[in-house]
This record gives sequence, C-alpha cells and structure tokens, in this order.
Amino acid sequence: MIKKFLIVLCSLLCSACMLASCGQSDSSSGAQGGQQSEEDINEDTGGTISVNDIKIVFSGDFEDGNISAYSKRSSEDAAAIAVSEEFAKGGKKSLCASGRSGEKSGPVLKLEGIGEAGKDYCLSVAVMQRDRSPVTIGLEYTDKDGAAKSETLFTTKEGGRWHNVNLLAFSLPEGSKDSCIFFEGGSSDIFIDNVTIVELPSANIETDIESLCEVFKDDFKVGTAITPADLQSRSTVALLEKHFNASITVGNELKPDYVLDGAATAAYYKETGDDEHPQVTFDKAKPVLDYARSKNIPVRVHTLVWHSQTPSWFFKEGYDPAGNWVSKEKMTARLENYIKAYFEKLVELYPDINFYACDVVNEAWMENGKPRKAGDNKVHEGESAWVKVYGDNSFIELAFTFARKYAPEGCKLYYNDYNEYMDGKLNAILKMAKDLKDKGIIDGIGMQSHLDVRKGTDAFPSVDMYKKALGRYSELGLDIQITELDATVPDNSGEQYFEAQAEYYKGIVNAVYEYKDKVSALIFWGLSDDKSWRASGQPLLFDRNNMAKPAFYSIIEDHKK
Ligand code: GLA
Repeated sequence: MIKKFLIVLCSLLCSACMLASCGQSDSSSGAQGGQQSEEDINEDTGGTISVNDIKIVFSGDFEDGNISAYSKRSSEDAAAIAVSEEFAKGGKKSLCASGRSGEKSGPVLKLEGIGEAGKDYCLSVAVMQRDRSPVTIGLEYTDKDGAAKSETLFTTKEGGRWHNVNLLAFSLPEGSKDSCIFFEGGSSDIFIDNVTIVELPSANIETDIESLCEVFKDDFKVGTAITPADLQSRSTVALLEKHFNASITVGNELKPDYVLDGAATAAYYKETGDDEHPQVTFDKAKPVLDYARSKNIPVRVHTLVWHSQTPSWFFKEGYDPAGNWVSKEKMTARLENYIKAYFEKLVELYPDINFYACDVVNEAWMENGKPRKAGDNKVHEGESAWVKVYGDNSFIELAFTFARKYAPEGCKLYYNDYNEYMDGKLNAILKMAKDLKDKGIIDGIGMQSHLDVRKGTDAFPSVDMYKKALGRYSELGLDIQITELDATVPDNSGEQYFEAQAEYYKGIVNAVYEYKDKVSALIFWGLSDDKSWRASGQPLLFDRNNMAKPAFYSIIEDHKK
C-alpha cells in the first residue's frame, strides 16, 4: 500500500517535470545539450508529502518557451531573463538569468494567479549557478500591513551543477499580496528548470474525537517529539495541536550532533588557540523552536550528553576526529563551556519559550548495570567516548553540575534511558539518582518507554514489570517523565495486532496514571505510525492517515471527563 502511494506520487510529480524526494534517482532524466556530467545533487529539504495531498497549481519546464510567470527582481535590475538551451535539467531548455549585477539581482517567479494568501504550498525546482556560488531560494511578499517581507527558504550546497530542490514548504500569510519566489546569491548566471508548485490541502484529521492533552490535563502534560519535516504537513500540525500541545521534544535537532558547530568551533580554535570552548548553533532546531514559540508550547530539551549522535571531534585533541583523545581535565572544561554556551544561546534566542525539562544525560547505563564500553560510537555502535575519556561514568555528575549551574530557572533536569525497567539498569539508575539527588543536581528520571507488543498476548516489558519500575523510581522522591513512549506490533503485520496493542497501551497508561502524582509528562515518540523511527512496527496511536487507532480509544477510556 505504502509503495503504491509512493509510485503514484513519483509518477504524478515526474509527469509534471520534476523529481520528488521519494528516494528516486534522477539519473534517467535525459542528459541534453550542456547537461552537467557530474551526478546531480538532490537536496534534502526534509519535505515529504502523501499522495492525498497532491494538487499541482503550477508546473513548467520551459520547453514551450513560456516564461510569462517570470521576471527580473525589480525594474532597476540589470539581469536579462530568457529561455536558454545551454543547460537543461531534462529536455533541452531552461530559464537563464544572465548579466546579473550582484547577489540580489536575478529571476523571480510571480505567484499572482498561482498561490492564494492563507494557503500552504510546496515548491520543487532544479537550480544551478554557473560559477561555484550557491543559489538561495526565498519568498517575498507585501504583508497585510503593507510591509515588505522576505524569507529564505533554502540555500543549495554549492554552485556549478544542478540541484534538485524538492518539496520546499512555504505559506502565503493571510492578507499578503505581490508574492514571488526569488533566486539569488553570487553574481554569475542562474539557471532554473522543472518548476512545480503543489498546494497542500487543509488539515485532514478527526476533529470530533477527544483531545489527549485535554483528557489528561489535570494529571500530566501530554506531548510528542517532532522534526522540522513534520511541520510541512498541515494535517500533522493539526494532529499535534489537537492532541499533543502540552509539550514538544525536538526529535533530533537539539542533540549534540546538531548543536555542536564543527566549523565555528574549528574557526574559533584557529583564531584564538583556545580549544576548550566548543561553539554551538541552533540553526537546525530553528523551525521547531520557532513553531513552539509561536504556539506557546513548552519544550523538553533532548539531550546534552549522549554516547550517540555526538561528533567524534568533540573528544579529540585539536578537534581532529582522527586525533588523540583529550585528557579528563580538558574534556571537563569543554563540557562546562558547551553546556554554558548551549543554555546561554538557547535562552538568548528564545527567551519566551518555556524550556521546562532537559535530558542532561541520555543512555549511560547498560542493562547489566555497568557503564558502556569505552570507544567511539561512530566506529563501534554502542560504545561511549565519554567513558573512553573518563574511564567510568563520572562525567554524569559533572554534566548535571554544569546543567544545574547554567540551565534557565524552571528547567528541570532529567536522566533519561531505555530498557529502564530491566533490573540491572534500573538499580544502577536508582543508585546514581540517589547520589545526584543528595547533591541537589537532578530533578527527575526520564523513562523512554520504547515498548513492544509481541505476537499473541506476549509483550515486553509486561505491564506488571513496567509498573514495578514506576514504583521503584517513584520511591526516589524525584519527578518522573515518560519521555519517548511507543509500543510496536510485529513488523508489517497490518491491523491484526491493533487490539492487542490497544490492550497493552491501556495497561501501560493506566500504570502511569496510578503514579500521576509523581509523573509530570507523558510524551510519545512521534505523531503517527508513518512518522515513527519504528514505522514498520506501527507503534503509535494514529495511523498514517492520522486516524485514531484502537490504542487511542483504549488509553482514554477510563479517563474521559
Ligand atoms: C533514543 C533517543 C531518541 C531517539 C530514539 C530513536 O530513544 O533518546 O532521541 O534517537 O532513540 O529515534
């Protein structure tokens, strides 16, 4: 079924002379004329779209010579906009802006008669700059108050070759007019081909069912993890706003791999000789954080210290991933400065977001209650560079000490882990947490809760085992958050285990509910089955069409007001 959707989507979009981001290569697109011989670059905009959403409102490949929707940026612009046969991305022709007078000079696609204010769209386009400069694609319009607005949508990695930029989402704000898509950057000729604009439909969710957040609002926050791509679908956003609007976890982009800025750190080191101040950036998290701010949704910060999704250079002399491991002392200085910079910049950029929780350390204990093996996770999965540098798990206390020192007021500090109900790990977490609690530097435990309904009635962990773990954590006198809940059924088993899944979910959520005085948040790891990291196991409450599954109804059954 899913495959069929994708095939229909690809053929629809290809027939509109573009290539969608469905994992399809564009090498068969037919080299012509001055076609670049190097393989083209497919840019990942994070965009996905379901076939139900397709309504093509504009498409053009210049083969018919029609450029009536295009003009130069302004009447003073010296650029000439014309059809060219020098390069083409499939076919023989493209549009070329030549004689450009500078960065801002170039072509625009006028949206009048194509897009309407108040609606959402996706743009796909092939672009190329003659020299090595990247091309920036942006949106310009006059807002309802008459102010000129401009936003950058995307910048290609480089120039000199075609870039297929697929499914780039943009919205035309209510009351806006004179909108256009502009192409800028560098000053050599810009080529454009295979332009498609798709209108996204109005939200497609069930509006007449209970809201999860509402059902549990007197008990705990209900939230979910999202990525920037999720924000491109109105339906997904509507689902989020109806059921999960009490808390957002940024699915990936607040992890060290995204926040630690390798280029800026290297530049800072080169300029100052100081290799103890890693530099940070929140560019990747921006779409989700901007959204959380605009909707006033509290955010869980996930995560500062982890063996996974952390760059190797962070632990190495001279920030060289192939270099020697740094000493404990140097690592401690880096750790402190990183956590300081992390919170300072986050609060500086988003002073009005309620960062109410932070997973300071993620997944440091093994199921046998021991620290991870020492090593580089990027070389041997599961190994920890933290343990390699420190020799043990003593970095945990340091991380919490620095987090307590620099986290904004009101941001509670958590230790977060999976298989957190298994004895060896559970005991290790309890022992660590008692110690950190005595030192006043931890506020709670994050139970990830990645669970599995197995064939038949068997599930792991059993509801009893899970409840027992909740009971033991609750004795700590710390807060508990369920941070990443999902419960798979056997891979690709369709709907046959949905009732068993519903029964299991109900047991788990009712167990959490029993401890509602100790539990402050119930967070799911994703919105709907297709958006899950474990998609083949259909582990969430909503199916790929955003329809509530039996598990949704089962968990609210005993709690509806
Ligand atoms: C762990 C992490 C999450 C996420 C999931 C997989 O549970 O804590 O951030 O990476 O794995 O998606």
